[in-house]
Amino acid sequence: MVNNLKNKNIILAICGGIAVYKVCDLTRKLISLEANVTCIMTESAKQFVSPLTFQTLSNNKVYSDIFDTSSWEIEHISLAQKADIIVVVPATANTMAKLAGGMADNLVCSTVLATKGKVLICPAMNNNMYHHIATEKNIKILQEYKYQFVMPHNGKLACGLIGDGCLAPIEVIVEKIITELE
Ligand SMILES: Cc1cc2nc3c(=O)[nH]c(=O)nc-3n(C[C@H](O)[C@H](O)[C@H](O)COP(=O)(O)O)c2cc1C
Repeated sequence: MVNNLKNKNIILAICGGIAVYKVCDLTRKLISLEANVTCIMTESAKQFVSPLTFQTLSNNKVYSDIFDTSSWEIEHISLAQKADIIVVVPATANTMAKLAGGMADNLVCSTVLATKGKVLICPAMNNNMYHHIATEKNIKILQEYKYQFVMPHNGKLACGLIGDGCLAPIEVIVEKIITELE
């Protein structure tokens, strides 16, 4: 595998799905490839894995509060400007709906809306949620925005069912990031 990720600014925009724990491995892999990784999290994402874990794995501050006053910078704008790529992972049905509608009511959505860099979306959810017409429509809209996707795989879902909706394997996501940043 060619490593073109050295010193690339990668933002992991982490949403509140059960697959958040897999993003720990993604963070470690990207750090091992010498990327600069910054994690931003929705409030729901923090219910699944603590920001402390991502701070430790990424060697970087984790952001989630759009109204954070600890820095003079407008966080979503400065993060968006620095990003070579924003990877929304796991992308929830909720966050994809908000992004499709151009909403900006949290740090993840505001940062995606404000970036001129690439956006890669990696959905993961229950297969009924994934195949709901609303989610399928939102994915189509996001593709029209030229956002790239790593679609979920078929497998055993957290709810116990077998179906589409499992987060794609981390190696597949890393390969896609590498390709996008070529
Ligand atoms: C245990 C549990 C697991 C969940 N897993 C998912 C998931 O895999 N995908 C998804 O779209 N939503 C999932 N949800 C629902 C989201 O957490 C919920 O829609 C939330 O509002 C998403 O917020 P966010 O998009 O701001 O992160 C889950 C909820 C719970 C309680």
